[in-house]
Amino acid sequence: MSSCRCGYDPPHPTRPKAPPVRGFFVLELSGISFYRWAMTVFIQTLTLSHFRSHKRTQLSFDGRPVALSGPNGAGKTNVLEAVSLLSPGRGLRRATPDDLSRKPDVLGWKIVAELSTPNGARNIQTWAEPGQSRQVRIDDKSAPQIALASLLGMVWLTPAMDRLWLEGAEGRRRFLDRMVLSFHPDHATQVLTYEKAMRERNRLLRDNVGDGAWYGALETQMAQAGARISANRRAVIATLAGHADHASPFPVADLTLDCAAPDDEAALARALSDGRRQDMAAGRSLTGPHRADLRAVWATKDMDAAQCSTGEQKAMLISLILSNARALAATGTVPLLLLDEVAAHLDAGRRAALYDAICSLRVQAFMTGTGSELFADLGPRAQQFTVSERDGRSILEETSP
Ligand SMILES: Nc1ncnc2c1ncn2[C@@H]1O[C@H](COP(=O)(O)OP(=O)(O)OP(=O)(O)O)[C@@H](O)[C@H]1O
Ligand SMILES: [Mg+2]
Repeated sequence: MSSCRCGYDPPHPTRPKAPPVRGFFVLELSGISFYRWAMTVFIQTLTLSHFRSHKRTQLSFDGRPVALSGPNGAGKTNVLEAVSLLSPGRGLRRATPDDLSRKPDVLGWKIVAELSTPNGARNIQTWAEPGQSRQVRIDDKSAPQIALASLLGMVWLTPAMDRLWLEGAEGRRRFLDRMVLSFHPDHATQVLTYEKAMRERNRLLRDNVGDGAWYGALETQMAQAGARISANRRAVIATLAGHADHASPFPVADLTLDCAAPDDEAALARALSDGRRQDMAAGRSLTGPHRADLRAVWATKDMDAAQCSTGEQKAMLISLILSNARALAATGTVPLLLLDEVAAHLDAGRRAALYDAICSLRVQAFMTGTGSELFADLGPRAQQFTVSERDGRSILEETSP
């Protein structure tokens, strides 16, 4: 791509690549040394062009957690949303590409990130022209969105997820699938394949098509992908249980996958075939992993997540994403964590425990809050930025101690 209408010039094709880093490196800050295990992936630079309230924002990171503070409407969540678009899908607000374009100009938007990885620097560009779908380039080559999953694992918590345990199963499935994706990058392909075949099957059902061979072909695809989806989900739930920290102040959640459909490929194909008449009456597929739900019980209290207090529910979600990060760290990689207003419902003790966990896992966690005092406990362990709004555009200033 030569140049985007939002005015961002793509990096020069011969840009120098950062040398690969290996083993530990030492970060010197105010005389304090931080030892970072360098076999992790983190965002080194991030540029937002005409992205929501950010006309042009350029940020440099060193791998420490990142704390963004500022008043309501300053543009903090917009930064997290931009980072979330470095993974496949519609990002943490599930916005359409046009919604992301800075108003009133609506020229399209662009995000460019340079990643530090054990194998050297990697470059991600993602953008959308007005009225067009989102595009991705990795290391200056066009790439499908799902290719992002193998570069960067990412898990997020947003205030909208405070009601995750109270609302419909779809949000919980999405939360689980995002964790699954951080372990199994091919999960995105399986989900896409399954959903595409299911949409096609639903269309046949609604149109009262009676062609058995046509159904059979689609049900075979659904069964193949569906069996993988269920296997991935169950494997990750077991892995998370194995990495729960029972000593932490975050409640350990016992997770179960509630799925009426068979996990086994042949049995799922049979269930789909046997259910055609019923599905035709409903006009959609009534069985399969797309109907699965994630259930959580606070283990020590034997209390269903939906019955827990707002703060406890949030703490349970945090406990899960920390288990996710711990499990991945054991495999030599860690995901990025996007924690929007994470401190809001946490008491001081849990807040300090969260920061300690993030720092000991050495994850690049992006956190937002309305006041910098929420991040005071982090001190020089994090990069701190203030976010403000001037003349209708977001401004970020680093204030790291
Ligand atoms: N497409 C857009 N073009 C321009 N501005 C936008 C666009 N979409 C959202 N905004 C504005 O971006 C501003 C910042 O939003 P953001 O959600 O990042 O705020 P925030 O700092 O997280 O605030 P809060 O503390 O309330 O969560 C808001 O004023 C919003 O109206
Ligand atoms: Mg916000």
